[in-house]
Amino acid sequence: MRVLSGIQPSGKLHIGNYFGAMRQYLKLQSEENECFYFIANYHAMTSVQAADELQSYTDEVARGYLAVGINPDKSVFFRQSDVPEVCELAWILSCVTPMGLLERCVSYKEKVEHGLRPNHGLFFYPVLQAADILIYNSHIVPVGQDQKQHLEVTRDLAIKFNNTYGEILTVPDPYIITATAVVPGLDGRKMSKSYNNTLELFEPAGRTKKKIMRIVTDSTPVEAPKDPDNCTVFALLSLVASQQETQEWRERYRRGGMGYGEAKKRLAELTNELLDPFRRRYDELCRNSDYVEDILREGGKKARSVAQELMEKVRTATGITKQK
Ligand code: TYM
Repeated sequence: MRVLSGIQPSGKLHIGNYFGAMRQYLKLQSEENECFYFIANYHAMTSVQAADELQSYTDEVARGYLAVGINPDKSVFFRQSDVPEVCELAWILSCVTPMGLLERCVSYKEKVEHGLRPNHGLFFYPVLQAADILIYNSHIVPVGQDQKQHLEVTRDLAIKFNNTYGEILTVPDPYIITATAVVPGLDGRKMSKSYNNTLELFEPAGRTKKKIMRIVTDSTPVEAPKDPDNCTVFALLSLVASQQETQEWRERYRRGGMGYGEAKKRLAELTNELLDPFRRRYDELCRNSDYVEDILREGGKKARSVAQELMEKVRTATGITKQK
């Protein structure tokens, strides 16, 4: 199976990215799969419009992927912009894309509803995402719940293209793990760079602990039973604790006689245990920027040759180039 996924370098990586997507990248990185993982730097331009910022987020995400365990010997790891053909495919797909399909996309609708004046890139974004996926004949795309609609658009566009020009594009399937599909942020909303409610993957342990201890909880007294299913601390705890420990916390919540502070402390401890090795590898990679750059260049070459093969077929099928 060909697996593909990407992350925008539009801010610091957080545990929502890790549990919602990156952990699945690692699981799928096995003998049976050919994994393509990339940094979606063209996508990030819809929100990051300072060159130095885009560069530094790109570097950070590159180190981040490697620090959590993406192995360049097992996966093709690259920058989106090292395969410029993806923009060509996006244009071709946009010519079979009904306007209504994009108008219904939530990322665009939300911005409009909030009174922002979205740029055309944001409107067009799902088409570029479809190109990212289709250009590598991807079968499965591990993502969090917020990307599900974009995967539906991708499937629609592949089918529309194939109906118009012949069976060339592979129709992919999303790969979403229900338990981690939406990781809550510190304020209970979805964890997101834009809500400023994240636990970053590579911030110092002390900062992670401080943020966790400040999570707002309800005012149920220590003695009273508590509802684990309506508690951000419990939701996060269940991501980092073993199944057995999660079950024990669930029972303690229901029994009462436990303060939120205790659960927060354990959450901070387990989160830092998970993140410590990532932080160490990240720091090492900060001192080895040439190594990271070499990996990206090499990955870019491999990805590009796959993309070029598909594009030849697409160009011929659409009449852009003559049939040989
Ligand atoms: P991005 O950069 O917003 O997020 C990267 C991945 O992290 C997941 N994620 C979450 N999962 C669960 N809970 C959360 N709170 C949470 N926050 C983020 C996202 O679902 C995503 O899987 N459009 C994509 C990038 C992209 C892409 C692609 C993905 C561009 N081209 C092709 C797959 C295939 C995005 O903005 O993800």
